[in-house]
Amino acid sequence: MVVVAQLVRAPDCGSGGRRFETGLPPKASSDRGFFLIRSLSNEKEIAKRRTFGIISHPDAGKTTLTEKLLLFGGAIQTAGAVKNNKIKKSATSDFMDIEKQRGISVATSVMAFNYRDKQINILDTPGHKDFAEDTFRTLTAVDSVILVVDVANGVEEQTEKLMEVCRMRKTPVIIFINKLDRDGKESFDLLDELEEKLQIHVRPLTWPIGMGDRFKGVYNLYNKSLNLFSPNKTGISDDIQSFDDLGSDQLDELIGDEAAAELREEVEMIEGVYDPFDQEEYLSGDVAPVFFGSAVNNFGVQELLDIFCEISPQPKGRDTDKGRKEPSDKKFSGFVFKIHANLDPKHRDRIAFLRIVSGKFERNTFYNHVRLEKRLKFPNPTSFMAQDKSVIDEAFPGDVVGLYDSGNFKIGDTLNEGDDFTFKGIPSFSPEIFMELENMDPMKSKQLDKGIHQLMDEGVAQLFIQQPGSRKIVGTVGQLQFEVINYRLEHEYGAKCRFVPRNFFKACWVTTDNEEQLKSFKTAKANYIATDKDDNLVFLAETPFLLQMAEQDYPDLTFHKTSEFKLETVS
Ligand code: G4P
Repeated sequence: MVVVAQLVRAPDCGSGGRRFETGLPPKASSDRGFFLIRSLSNEKEIAKRRTFGIISHPDAGKTTLTEKLLLFGGAIQTAGAVKNNKIKKSATSDFMDIEKQRGISVATSVMAFNYRDKQINILDTPGHKDFAEDTFRTLTAVDSVILVVDVANGVEEQTEKLMEVCRMRKTPVIIFINKLDRDGKESFDLLDELEEKLQIHVRPLTWPIGMGDRFKGVYNLYNKSLNLFSPNKTGISDDIQSFDDLGSDQLDELIGDEAAAELREEVEMIEGVYDPFDQEEYLSGDVAPVFFGSAVNNFGVQELLDIFCEISPQPKGRDTDKGRKEPSDKKFSGFVFKIHANLDPKHRDRIAFLRIVSGKFERNTFYNHVRLEKRLKFPNPTSFMAQDKSVIDEAFPGDVVGLYDSGNFKIGDTLNEGDDFTFKGIPSFSPEIFMELENMDPMKSKQLDKGIHQLMDEGVAQLFIQQPGSRKIVGTVGQLQFEVINYRLEHEYGAKCRFVPRNFFKACWVTTDNEEQLKSFKTAKANYIATDKDDNLVFLAETPFLLQMAEQDYPDLTFHKTSEFKLETVS
């Protein structure tokens, strides 16, 4: 559970003594011991935390798996609790669903629970492809990822896109092949498909014994144990047995001669074909361990969670424009990766999700909002325990806290203890659909302007200002966003607008050292030049061919497909 008030043992309190840590600097030299204990305790808190995201193509089983993980952590008691956090794929104009999604996903955006000696923070990512941008941003706040793949469908479109972002960021990925209780692709074929389409080496750590009607269980290659399958929709399986000698006759007795022979042969093949699992290769994002199971039957999930706790990375540092910040740095710092509007349109306040990178965050303490050069304190920072929100006194690197915000935050904002650095790496990706925003009620221009800017701060879409005439071009990754914007502008800001399709293929951020070339490019392409929210220069290319031509004609200009230019050079 996320810590409500962190208790640390004070040095002078004896073995049973406890005191609330205030976070105040030590008053006198006799407090030095306390100070030391405080930083030791910070280290312990950091080492405990595992912050990750579950991603998948819709319907592969992300929600079901999340729910089963929460069951293990005792964070929820029954299946079905997380289920509603989905937009029905067909009902794009059912705004009740959008509203419901916004409401529920505040509660389920971060789900924290304790398992064994770890505090697990799961960051939810929307499965709907129109919200992919939101998922990409959430991926900047996690330290690793579990990717769910449907055994019958294999690698799907959305899986590939999400994996591209993980590869770019070198995020460690674990793959969970789901729905083994149904017939699907042959396991070795699936591993080849993963390697080929996701461009990552894989290494199975569990292995299925049959599938569909013949599914008998999984063999845990990592710690050599056998878990036999019995459909079990709610409970937690407790009959995993160690089994390090696959040659033993007991295996034939347990799963039958044929399945036993097959398993022996396949395990031999795995050991022959794949290199032994190397945790370093996983942590550097070069190898993805693979697990097999059936989320809905809660099968193979415990193996996943146990090994995840053992191998996954603890909170990592992040790059800033003035060097890297590590979790062990004493001073607090963090960044906002997500903003949620309040469900009630009468109350404009929003929740900003802050990922803590270094130091310790404390309630009611003034911090520096770097972009606004403003000191802010937060009386009610919240943490998220599955469906519940609770006010916290402190939080540590890896944690995500919700900050009530009346319009101070934008996605990507940095909060710290008074230094002048900004975190990098909250990229905007080129949108795929572009529309020009037209005001339908000139009397409400101000409201429209305010509304559109606030929605952009929340990351609902991207706004480009195109010259001449300061036209507002809104870019998104999905059609659904335009309906959301339209609806919210009208209901929350009283403004009316319409969207006129613009036929652009990509928005590319342009950089160069060659001022002359840039000048002639801007003159030649005047009708296709725009600026983004930070006044960066953007080229709105109408077709892939025109983009290619621009690249050829202006060789000293670089056309970036994400706004975080550094990222592109990582992969
Ligand atoms: P998503 O979040 O990735 O979109 O997927 P979700 O968990 O909602 O799962 C999609 C469907 O797949 C659900 O069925 C779910 O019950 C089913 N499912 C998940 N894991 C397994 C599994 O291991 N085996 C099988 N056979 N099915 C699985 P649904 O019919 O869409 O919803 P529901 O009526 O079951 O709730």
